Amino acid sequence: MIRLANVVKTFNSGKPNQFTAVDDVSIEIRPLNLTVLKGPSGSGKTTLLSLIGCMVRPSSGRIFLHGIETRFARHNESAGSFEITSLPERFLNEIRRSTFGFIFQQFNLIKGISVLENIMLPAYPTGENHTALHQRGMGLLERFDIKRHAPSKVEWLSGGELQRVAIARALINNPSILVADEPTAHLDSRLSHEFMKIVSELKSKGKTILIASHDPIVYDSEIADTVVEMRDGRITGRGHEE
Ligand SMILES: Nc1ncnc2c1ncn2[C@@H]1O[C@H](COP(=O)(O)OP(=O)(O)OP(=O)(O)O)[C@@H](O)[C@H]1O
Ligand SMILES: [Mg+2]
Repeated sequence: MIRLANVVKTFNSGKPNQFTAVDDVSIEIRPLNLTVLKGPSGSGKTTLLSLIGCMVRPSSGRIFLHGIETRFARHNESAGSFEITSLPERFLNEIRRSTFGFIFQQFNLIKGISVLENIMLPAYPTGENHTALHQRGMGLLERFDIKRHAPSKVEWLSGGELQRVAIARALINNPSILVADEPTAHLDSRLSHEFMKIVSELKSKGKTILIASHDPIVYDSEIADTVVEMRDGRITGRGHEE
């Protein structure tokens, strides 16, 4: 479980353009569930995702990961329970890499290198054996039916193929938590439904999934366990749960 306690993120603190993007947020995100963060543009969804995903630190408040099985937890014998906000940078990086897989709105794939190289990239810092990594990368491409594109440059791919490359890249380090920011923003409705089908499969295989979206195909989906509504940096509602 991920638990946030009174998390605040203020940008440009103390300056005239000071802005609080996430304002006193306390929520629990259940493991093995699909949680959707919904809210208008500027409500703080991306900021909240980057706080949870250890990409930025909160200005105040605390974030806990409980019972998350990761390489980091095994190394540190912490039984998978830690307060990430107080960890030094290098631990934060390691947790980010071993626990989270990210799918960005613009996919953030790197042009000029191949599809396979793109999806292997997040695994390079782990120093893993190249042959094993290559095999896992090809396995993911096969799973998402884009194996023939392994040597292709990403700029040759269609929107739906790019989306699947982005998903494969997010899964390369076998994360327990998948975070996606507006993943259907550049997809037509057929591809958006296809994306949700993949999300459903990943969920049934034991991933915890967190998606920020203002697309009804995502937040009205029957596979969404919880929909958290944000406005002006605050949580204004929570629906769908039993
Ligand atoms: N690095 C930053 N410096 C200053 N302000 C920021 C920064 N990052 C985000 N903000 C501001 O915080 C607010 C929330 O931004 P955020 O990107 O989290 O919203 P969002 O809900 O994801 O919006 P969208 O639906 O448009 O993606 C916005 O007003 C934004 O301008
Ligand atoms: Mg956003």
